[in-house]
Amino acid sequence: MSAAIPALVIAVDGPAASGKGTLARRLSAHYGLPYLDTGLLYRMVARAMLDAGHDIRDAAAAGHIVSRFDQGAFDEDTLRGREIGEAASVVAAMPAVRSGLVERQRRFAAQADGAVLDGRDIGTVICPDAPAKLFVTATPEVRAARRQKELAGRGESATFDGILADIRRRDARDSGRSDAPLKAAEDAVILDTSALTIEEALAAAIAIVERRRAAAQGLLTER
Ligand code: CDP
Repeated sequence: MSAAIPALVIAVDGPAASGKGTLARRLSAHYGLPYLDTGLLYRMVARAMLDAGHDIRDAAAAGHIVSRFDQGAFDEDTLRGREIGEAASVVAAMPAVRSGLVERQRRFAAQADGAVLDGRDIGTVICPDAPAKLFVTATPEVRAARRQKELAGRGESATFDGILADIRRRDARDSGRSDAPLKAAEDAVILDTSALTIEEALAAAIAIVERRRAAAQGLLTER
């Protein structure tokens, strides 16, 4: 009789436009695991707030919306716009919004074989017991260049300096909030993708996951 293979939960955290989404998607394809982009949940709350005509800083309205929004009601492409990213980071600092989204994320992570989730607090708050945690980062300039390319691909033009300012502001807001700030979990491996291609970053990420998986199965003793 073979031993049961433990569920593989891969937590991928990191700042805006660090490449964590691309990496998480590729990891999910590589391991055949379901993938959740948790940033989209915060973007949905922001979109629902704006659609309902609320001020984006209205925490009471956001707390009300987070308990009843329908995940299927949004067009993903619209959610990825620049303004929604900014609005999402405002609602993401509200404790009622964060707590209102915890269960959806944990339920997703609890699937039989495991799952890949990317965000800001997956390794620290949502899945603190995940066997594999990556903290994906890159310099602000590299991230701004990547985001500019991504936005151009969507037909949204913006200057490099404007995007860099957005990224710095978002980093400060995400890292400075008191509830679940953006930071690497103590047992996360930091992966700086500034000088890596997607393929190189993927290979490095797989190597990290494999080491952690072996350690979790007791084949290696690594922390
Ligand atoms: O792709 P990008 O990194 O620009 O944004 P995202 O991952 O879609 O997240 C948008 C915003 O949601 C972030 O700036 C965070 O403020 C917030 N967020 C969060 O607080 N926690 C998460 N797990 C995911 C996103």
